Amino acid sequence: MLRLRRYRYYVLSATIIIFLLFHVAQNSGQWDSVSASVPYSKTPPGHRTDTSNRFDPSFKGDTRFYSNGNDDLPQKILDDTADDHTTVTIPDLKAAGGVDDDDDDLPTTIIDNVDTTQVVAYDKDGAAKTTLAPLIDIPDQNVGQGAKGAAIAKEKETEVATTTTIHWRKMPEHFPLAESEIISLPTGKPYPIPSVQYDFGKESPAAREKRQGRQDLVKAEMERSWAGYMKYAKGHDELSPVSGKFRDPFCGWAATLVDSLDTLWIMDMKDEFEEALLEVEKIDFTTSSTRSEIPVFETTIRYLGGLVAAYDVTGGKTGGYDILLEKAIELAEILMGVFDTPNRMPILYYNWKPAFASQPKRAGSGVSVAELGSLAMEFTRLAQITKESRYYDAVARITDAFFEWQERGTSLSGIFPEHVDAAGCNRTAEAEIAAQQSKLSIEEEEDLYADDEGYSPATSNEKVKQSSTKSGKRSTSANKGPIQQTNHLSSKEKPLPDCIAKGLDSAGWGSEQYSMGGSQDSTYEYFPKQFLLLGGLEPKYKWLHMNMTKAVKKWLLYRPMVPDDRDILFSAKVMTQGNPEFDANTEFEVSHLTCFIGGMFGLGGKIFDVPADVEIGKKLTDGCVWAYESTPSGIMPEGAHVVPCTDPANCHWNQTMYEEWLDPLFDTREASIKDYNERKAELKEQKERERQDALLQKFAEDRALKADPDATGDKTEQLRKAALADDAQSHPASYSVPKKWEDVVRSDVSGNQRRAPTSKFTESEEESSMASKSSPADSRTVEADSDPAPGFSSKGISQIPLQEEVDPDPLRPLSHEEYVANKIKNEKLPPGFVNVNFRRYILRPEAIESVWYMHRITGESYWQEKGWKMFRAIVSQTTTEAGNSAIDDVLIKNSEQVNEMESFWTAETLKYFYLLYSEPDLISLDEWVLNTEAHPFKRPTAPFNT
Ligand SMILES: *[C@@H]1O[C@H](CO)[C@@H](O)[C@H](O)[C@H]1NC(C)=O
Ligand SMILES: *[C@@H]1O[C@H](CO)[C@@H](O)[C@H](O)[C@H]1NC(C)=O
Ligand SMILES: *[C@@H]1O[C@H](CO)[C@@H](O)[C@H](O)[C@H]1NC(C)=O
Repeated sequence: MLRLRRYRYYVLSATIIIFLLFHVAQNSGQWDSVSASVPYSKTPPGHRTDTSNRFDPSFKGDTRFYSNGNDDLPQKILDDTADDHTTVTIPDLKAAGGVDDDDDDLPTTIIDNVDTTQVVAYDKDGAAKTTLAPLIDIPDQNVGQGAKGAAIAKEKETEVATTTTIHWRKMPEHFPLAESEIISLPTGKPYPIPSVQYDFGKESPAAREKRQGRQDLVKAEMERSWAGYMKYAKGHDELSPVSGKFRDPFCGWAATLVDSLDTLWIMDMKDEFEEALLEVEKIDFTTSSTRSEIPVFETTIRYLGGLVAAYDVTGGKTGGYDILLEKAIELAEILMGVFDTPNRMPILYYNWKPAFASQPKRAGSGVSVAELGSLAMEFTRLAQITKESRYYDAVARITDAFFEWQERGTSLSGIFPEHVDAAGCNRTAEAEIAAQQSKLSIEEEEDLYADDEGYSPATSNEKVKQSSTKSGKRSTSANKGPIQQTNHLSSKEKPLPDCIAKGLDSAGWGSEQYSMGGSQDSTYEYFPKQFLLLGGLEPKYKWLHMNMTKAVKKWLLYRPMVPDDRDILFSAKVMTQGNPEFDANTEFEVSHLTCFIGGMFGLGGKIFDVPADVEIGKKLTDGCVWAYESTPSGIMPEGAHVVPCTDPANCHWNQTMYEEWLDPLFDTREASIKDYNERKAELKEQKERERQDALLQKFAEDRALKADPDATGDKTEQLRKAALADDAQSHPASYSVPKKWEDVVRSDVSGNQRRAPTSKFTESEEESSMASKSSPADSRTVEADSDPAPGFSSKGISQIPLQEEVDPDPLRPLSHEEYVANKIKNEKLPPGFVNVNFRRYILRPEAIESVWYMHRITGESYWQEKGWKMFRAIVSQTTTEAGNSAIDDVLIKNSEQVNEMESFWTAETLKYFYLLYSEPDLISLDEWVLNTEAHPFKRPTAPFNT
């Protein structure tokens, strides 16, 4: 209760603050005039954006923020390419006026908290297409490993009109770390780690031939998609594979190209690789004409991971492709700006424009676990290659924060809620202090509120200040830096509102979600992988992993009840209010994004020597294989639900139970039918009474009319009409009691032979595709049924479910059996599925990823066979002339293609397929560790037993 009151306090203060800031934003002119007079202001309109000097030319003040010697290497590389960045175009004269977008004037602290993601996706033939780009539905609105851009596309797309090219510039840090505070890479001899890969013996010639034949077909698919990309979308983020155009959802830095570099190399497409490198050189990471915010997670896993891995697979230093490292450093230096927060937790949507980037800010208070925790491998590998500790420090602090949080405890001990407060301010404690203060002096507090744009009245409280500087890393000089003077509310010096420090925490206001799916996934995936990348020298990753798998086994894993009793596993989603032993609410989901987890359990089981986890990994992977095999297209849907086994050790298909899951209201249906029939009978009786009354009255009036022939008039006529109408409506002869549903179907099948009797539930997919696109199970459209006109196919008509065509009483509630049959049919539910809430397939890799891990770990050809079925299904459903496309509905064959080819298709999906049919020592898991975008990084040494 107390908790609740505190929160209310906060909601109120937040509302006031947002209101104030909104007013300020409205008044951007005023803001301009203040900020223009101080250092670090944005470049005035018309001023040449001088990027040969990365620092703002108008800055003449304190130099103590300038980067130290550590920056020299990257800075030099940046400077070398500086000429490319000095483009100045003449501004278009727009009504809005000025060089900068209006939103340049919003304080970043607010922007960061809002988690906005704007996307410009445009096609070659013009910006008009911008807002029409197809949207992708994903199960979770939050961007995660999971979403991988899909969620971004879902956001409102905005056209950004840049008139002068604005470039990111290196900013002095507001919260710099002293040299001595920087966490450096663990040193020492790599720890002996058990080998991951199965000891593959000699291959028979027949097996080799089969394998290589398949591998060639995978490569052919890569060649096709790559050629399509280069022909229609070269230099852009993604090919639009149906229209032959392109999209730029990832800042327009050629995402597909960078993401696919290592795939080209691994598949021995060296000419294409060289050609791609020419494009890499042209990328300018310091600006984007399509996005004002860099999605840090996506950029790190796709671009930074892509560049670093390409550098690694081509041989690193000896490979001779220095440009890859140079570009990686150029990007990393930009991204380093996101860690400049008081607690060094990153800003995850980084507004790179100097006007924003120069502002002090905190990390978000509602970020996704995946985005926060999945930067580790890329920055670590870059730190190893460059010997630059700052890159490692940046992510080691995030790991430390997760580690501390796991120790401190979450509701599901060992794993983390989906939404994380990374801002580092304990609002609860602040509210408490504020409440105390308000007791002391209500007036004083009001002053503070009116005065302070921040969240907390605690700023002026000496006691609080002390406690926060103790744990916070901010230097005192930062408080006095000129930057704070840009505050528009007051002429007083205003630092970022101070706060009482705290570690990572749940951002949920009471309710928390835990799963291994989108928005969470890759943080967990990175625990064992980071352990490998660091040669086992940082034991934290092992504890993080072990505690995590323990929690997953306890809370999330479940065995689904499936028709052939196959022994498989999935990972669920759990909702809790904080007391899971009592209030845990489990969603038995089947999510494509979560399919990576089989590989994770397998890999972790091997390196930490937990054989049971390898077995779990197999069952999890086979779960996804089962889901692929369950649909008419042969492809698993993005999201669905199934029924858990009551007893996982002894689980048999139970049709009754399945139908009860399909129809949670099963035990009320009989009652509502009875109720309906009773009311109907009553109504009928009443109508009948009224009809008879009317007839009687008519009769009486007729007699009166006969008796008095002069009495004509409206009233008589009305009565007559009413009587006739009534008669027509409820004539006893035309009314029949609703038949039992089975009878209806039977009579239709036998009496009306338009359709084969067997078609009751198993009509072909094409037929049912449209009718049931999203119709709820018991929506009962009544159609005047007729045979199609000559020359017209009957397909369109037969899409209407059978019983609906003839049901004499459309309002009648459905029985349990009817409801279930209807639901299965309308929703095209594959056997064992309770629903399929996201039917798309967007060329995702997670299932084949785990299949590949299983093959490399167990050596069983089972996985290669299963993988081949998956490959053929995917190719048959997604191929377009220019490449491969996401599809709209895996529950039908030849679904509509949605004109999107995400970069992970060529970066991951095709790579995993290729490696499944390669020699097992190509990207051996004993030498390489792959990031969440399938980019292989070199492990420090070979394991001890090879
Ligand atoms: C925030 O402060 C409250 C009250 O002072 C304390 O109970 C709580 O543990 C703190 N939260 C964190 C995450 O440190
Ligand atoms: C995590 O693992 C370590 C080492 O086994 C243990 O000391 C710690 O208590 C565990 N934490 C949780 C939250 O289970
Ligand atoms: C099947 O499920 C129903 C409903 O839950 C239950 O009553 C019945 O006992 C189950 N049958 C078997 C064989 O377990």
